[in-house]
Parts: sequence; C-alpha cells; structure tokens
Amino acid sequence: MSYDWDRNPPPDSWKHFEAKWSRRRDPLCLSGVWRFHELLPFAPQSQVVTVGEGQTLLLPSDPVAKYVGVDAGRLFLQYEGMNPSGSFKDNGMSAAFTHAHMIGAKRAACASTGNTSASLALYCAVTRLMKALIFIGSGKISYGKLSQALDYGALTVQITGDFDDAMQRVQEVSKQLGIYLVNSVNPFRLEGQKTIMYRVLEGLGWEVPDWIVVPGGNLGNSSAFGKAFAELHQIGLIDRIPRLAVINAAGANTLYELYEQRGLRWNGGAPDMSLVSAHKAEMDAAGRRASTIASAIEINRPVNLTKCLRALETCDGVVREVTDQEILDAKAQVGAGGFGCEPASAASVAGAKLLISQQIIGRDERVVCILTGHQLKDPTATVAYHTTDQAQFNQVLGSRGVKRALFANRAVAVNNDLDDIIKAIQLYS
Ligand code: F0G
Repeated sequence: MSYDWDRNPPPDSWKHFEAKWSRRRDPLCLSGVWRFHELLPFAPQSQVVTVGEGQTLLLPSDPVAKYVGVDAGRLFLQYEGMNPSGSFKDNGMSAAFTHAHMIGAKRAACASTGNTSASLALYCAVTRLMKALIFIGSGKISYGKLSQALDYGALTVQITGDFDDAMQRVQEVSKQLGIYLVNSVNPFRLEGQKTIMYRVLEGLGWEVPDWIVVPGGNLGNSSAFGKAFAELHQIGLIDRIPRLAVINAAGANTLYELYEQRGLRWNGGAPDMSLVSAHKAEMDAAGRRASTIASAIEINRPVNLTKCLRALETCDGVVREVTDQEILDAKAQVGAGGFGCEPASAASVAGAKLLISQQIIGRDERVVCILTGHQLKDPTATVAYHTTDQAQFNQVLGSRGVKRALFANRAVAVNNDLDDIIKAIQLYS
C-alpha cells in the first residue's frame, strides 16, 4: 500500500502529534495508533474503529542491557503486551477493523496461535460491528488466549494441524464464504503496526535508535517497521533509518535459512522465489514442522516473507535464530525487571544478546527490543521454568531441548507449621 503524500500532505514536524496529547478526550487522539492518523491516511476519521489501543511503554532497562552486553542506558524495551487484548496485535487490528468497517464486512476471520484471535474477538465484542471466526491448531493455543476468545464470544474452530495448516484453511474458507480476513496478509494490519515504531521514536524524544530487534513469525511486524521507516524518511520526519534484526526461533527458522544461509534478497522486487519453493519442498519431504516453546512464532511458512525482504533491504537488516533455552533465559531476565513478556517476545532480547556477542551490534549502540506480548500469555512455560518439580520441567521444557533454568526463582515448599514457615522465610530472605 503506498500513499500519494502530495495529496495527503503529512505534518512536517513531530510536534503536530505531541499536541494531540492535550486533546486526549478525543478517542482518536488517545489511541496510540490513530494519534498518527496522518501517517496511515487510508480511512476518513468518521470510519475509524478504536478501543483505546496503543497505550504502550518504552522503558530503558539496565539489568537487561547488562545481560545482553550493551552499555548502561543503551537498551530499551517496548512493551506491546500492554495493549487491551495483551499483545501488539491490537495496533494492526484497529486498522484492519477500520477497513472492514469501511467496506461493510459483517464477519471477520483469522488463524491464530492466540494473540490475533484474542485481539479480533475483543474488537468484535467491544464494537459489536462484526462476528469473529477463529481457526486454531489442535493443542496449539495457550489457555490464557483461548479463554479470551471464548469469553468474548468468538466462533472458535479447532482443526487438526498446526498454525501453518490453520492459516491455509482460513484463507480458503474466507475466500469461499466472503469473510473478511484479518491475519497479517491483510495490508491494513501492517498500516496499524507501523505505529509501534512511531511510539518508539516518541519514547526516544524522536531520536532514531541504532537497532530495532523484533521476533519473526509471520513477519508482519518486520514488514510494517521497514515500511514505517521508509515512509518517514521519504517525507522527511527522520534523517536516517535504524538497522533491523529479525529473530526466528531455531525450531521455526525459515527466514533465517532463506536470508542468511541461502542468500535470498529483495532484489529490487524480484526475489528468487525458486529458493523459497526449494526450501519448502525440502521441509515437506523431511516432514519438518515448526517446533518451539515460543508458540507465537511457531510458523514455518511466513505469509509476509516478501515484504519482510524489502524491510531488510530498507533497514540494512540481519536475521538470527535463537534456541528455546536462550529464549526462556532472556524471558526470565525481562520478567525479573517487572512487566515481563511471553516467550516469543523474549526472542528479541535473546537475539540482541547473540548479535552483540557477534559484534554486529556494538556495545555503545542504542538498541530497542520489541516485546510483542504479555507475560500472562503462557504461564505454563514460565512456571515450568521456575519449578522445583523435575518431571514438570522435563515435560514442558526438557522435551524442547531446554536443559537448565539459569534464572529460576524457585518456590519454597514448607510444612503447614508456623515455626517451619518462619524458619524458611528467615533462611531464604
Ligand atoms: N510475537 C507475538 C507475541 C505474536 O503473537 C506473534 C504472532 C509474533 C510475535 C509474530 O509476529 O507475524 O509480525 O512476525 N502471533 C500470531 C497469532 C501467529 O496468531 O497471534 P509477526
């Protein structure tokens, strides 16, 4: 989607957006997406759908800076889990929903590992504008997220298979039944997700950081971020573009394999798709399915692959893969600083640590890790990480190659006896 900026002249200064804060009783000024309406000018104001999304925070974290290996004051965490449904998806959903509303859609569908479905179901429940239809893979959704979709009244279809299967089916079903599809194949989703970058810049006093590090699943965020920076540069609101690092889980590393190992590039809009089909054929022949504790990025057929290649080109990007062990250790470090995040989100912190150890990110560079989802998404993984119960650890994490919990905060088991309880507290505190 490209805009004719001559017909929709954007503001020439960030001050224009700052001024909206004093008018925040207006829902379009309060929303962290629609405050930037002039930078996604596809809908008239009267059609915009908002539930107050995008009230998220960018915070520096020196403990996490130390963990990943950059200088104090150089590492920032963007907490997108603070959105109404608990993930960054609300940014894109408000934009896709706005478009669906504009064209009079009555039903909207998605495939999901949890966050997209919770977001879609929430927008349907709050606005009553559409009915939600969600596709999930069997056993592939966390209870926290499933409970949201059920509470919000979404029609929930569980199919045998994983996210990649559900994604394929929901596209077929939407086409056949004329249902509006809100997965990130929908370009309006990406328009909303651009605003995550505007808020990052806002949090940094409109200064451009050196690196944006983001987990990669369906590659909607990375694509949207690249587009955001290309447009901001084009209209003159920024004078340089940050570098982008997209982090795959090692068990779902299609982008890493294609970009870093097989040399797939945007190539002026003509990427060598034979590399993609060869990779897909190899995966199919080997019966290889995506597998990682970071369920949100357990995706082997990213729908935004091509757009992401363009973003990597725009932002001189790199791609890395991190193991589930690295993801969970990084997640524990983020959680120890408060707020926390879900496993997939922590891939960004684990990826930053890897890139710093490889001296690709410098110790003095300013790094922003995007924490895409809320800590409460996947308590099973978190509790298993901190547990003293070896069987539970093995079942949830050992099966995924996680060997130890370096930063576990173990609960203390004690008899129901006042003296014993007091002794235990004195011993451990
Ligand atoms: N982080 C979280 C918390 C997510 O929920 C997702 C995707 C991603 C990262 C990947 O983002 O596509 O922009 O690369 N979750 C989808 C869902 C699959 O169904 O909620 P991407």
